This record gives sequence, C-alpha cells and structure tokens, in this order.
Amino acid sequence: MATSSDIGAEITEQVLRSLDHTPNPRLKTVMTSLIRHLHAFIREVKPTEAEWLQAIQFLTRVGQLCDERRQEFILLSDALGASILVDAVNHHADDGATESTLLGPFYRPGAPELPSGASISRDGRGEPVVVSGRVLSTDGVPIPGAVLDVWQANAHGLYEQQDPTQPEMNLRGRFRTDTEGRYRFITVRPSSYPIPHDGPVGELLRALGRHPYRPAHIHFIVTAEGYAPLTTHLFAAGDPYLDSDAGFGTKDSLVVEFVRHDSAEEAAQHGVRAPFYTVQYDFVLRRAAPAPEQPRTG
Ligand code: BEZ
Ligand code: FE
Repeated sequence: MATSSDIGAEITEQVLRSLDHTPNPRLKTVMTSLIRHLHAFIREVKPTEAEWLQAIQFLTRVGQLCDERRQEFILLSDALGASILVDAVNHHADDGATESTLLGPFYRPGAPELPSGASISRDGRGEPVVVSGRVLSTDGVPIPGAVLDVWQANAHGLYEQQDPTQPEMNLRGRFRTDTEGRYRFITVRPSSYPIPHDGPVGELLRALGRHPYRPAHIHFIVTAEGYAPLTTHLFAAGDPYLDSDAGFGTKDSLVVEFVRHDSAEEAAQHGVRAPFYTVQYDFVLRRAAPAPEQPRTG
C-alpha cells in the first residue's frame, strides 16, 4: 500500500523518464531536480485543487505585471530569498573580494558615462553625498579603467522609472577609475524604501505579516577587464531595516558610514552645498576564472 510519502511515486517516475532524451545535459539535471522537488513539495503540502489554482493565478498575476518598468518575478525571487541564495552559491569565496548582493528589479543598462566627480542627480533634490574610493584586486593592486555602474532610489525611496516626476536616468551613471584605481561621484542621500507592494508580491508579504522595507543603499556593478564582475550595494549604517531587509540582501561588510559635514566651506571644496555627507569605500575584485576547457570532439 502507498504510504503518504510515496503517493503518486509512479507519476514522478513517469515524468522523470520523459526527460531521458533531453539532449542538453545541464537542462536534464535541472529539470530532474525540479520535478523531484516539485513533486515532493506536492506530496508534503497536499494542496487542494482550489489552492493549486490560487497558486497558478498568483504566478499569472506576477507575470502579467512584468514589463520594462516593473519586474514582479525578480521581486518575488528577492522576497523569497531565492535571489540571495543564487548569489550565495555562486560567490562564496573567502578571498578578500567585496561581497556581492542582489541586482534587484530596478537596474537599467545604458546609464550615461560621466566624468569623475560628476553628480548623478539630475534634479538636484536631496542632501548631497560625495562617494569615493578605489577599485583594487584581491592582491591590493589598484585597477585603472574599472567601470562602476551606479544607481539608486531618490530621497523619497523611488527609482526614476517608478516616478514620473524624476528626469530620465536620474540617479544613474557610470564612472571609470583613474590611473590609480580611484573613483569619485556625487549623489544624494538615499532613504530606506518599501519594495513595490501594490501587486501580488505585496499581497504575499501582507499575508505573511512581513514589512516591505529595504535599508537605504546605493547599487553598484563594478567591472574591469580580466576580473569577475561584482554586483553589490553599499548600505547606510544606522538604518532601522538593516536587520530585516525585505530582500534579504544586507551583508555586514557592505554597511558604510555616511559621515555628515555641516561646514559650508568644506562643502564648497567638494562642489556641493552643506550639509553634505561623505562615503568612502574600496571595492575589491577577484580575477576572472579561466574559461573551462571545451571537451575535445575529434
Ligand atoms: C532593490 O534594491 O532595488 C530591490 C531589491 C530587491 C527587491 C526590490 C528592490
Ligand atoms: Fe535598491
């Protein structure tokens, strides 16, 4: 007699056999594991048909909300801790390189390249922050010509594509390190903000009794020839949501002080107005892994 742990075992076996002729070995591995885990989940939870339909309708609504301005699937992956687990299984070396974290749903490629020291704020709203530091290799050597692709939400917690009052590409820019590996740019102080919670992911958070907030942060993708690309954030020390990030992306090593300065004279030296903040951070990149050898065919 079938026990509750092997109900429908023959269904699982039949579905697994249907993968026997999958030509792509990686796809076969992925689908075999997916079917095993999905079927085990169903055996464990025993969803009613109404619950299964509710799940399908939920995922349908997640998909229907996706377009160039909104990516509800990335949001779902982030809110379930899946994105940060994918990050963890891919970047776990303890070699002194800067830790990576979520990409998030608000990255836009094609931000303008700006000269060192320029501001990414196109509307001048918010308290100025001067961000500077170096890009180094894990052996401490400065990397000239590294590119920092930077983006963030404004002081009210909105990214430009969420907010028609912000100019196109506001708070986005790319900067290149100088011959000593140095970078410098001006932005505005970010605030903690709720991830979009007016859709199915927000409904799920409410049903789970979770808040939607992420701690204040600036996003970076740092790239340099010969080095592995780094996707990361810098988080503001003291933020009340550092310990309960709705996207699970906060890491202690990425928390930095936004140091406040009130002197108008100092502000003028930096080309900003007082009060302003400074943030200093050196990004450390690891060398790119050599490309795997291709199997010989003849
Ligand atoms: C973000 O930081 O942009 C983000 C990350 C996860 C979910 C929502 C937003
Ligand atoms: Fe963000």
